[in-house]
Amino acid sequence: MPGHYLNGAQYRPAHIHVTVSAPGFNPLTTQLYFKGDPYNDIDPFIKPSLIMAVNDLGSGKQATFDFVLAAN
Ligand SMILES: [Fe+2]
Repeated sequence: MPGHYLNGAQYRPAHIHVTVSAPGFNPLTTQLYFKGDPYNDIDPFIKPSLIMAVNDLGSGKQATFDFVLAAN
């Protein structure tokens, strides 16, 4: 899991930065967040639709997210 870091005086929730691209589609850059993070509710950048549920697999964690790209 990614860690927390300060943004000014406030911690950011754990997140990952992603860029998705495919030929014929507009690239998408966004951030994905993890359900249950204690900073999710106070982050100014988060959107509820970007929060992923996380499954604990014992040897690691698993989350999925479906991206939809707009054709260009
Ligand atoms: Fe970041």
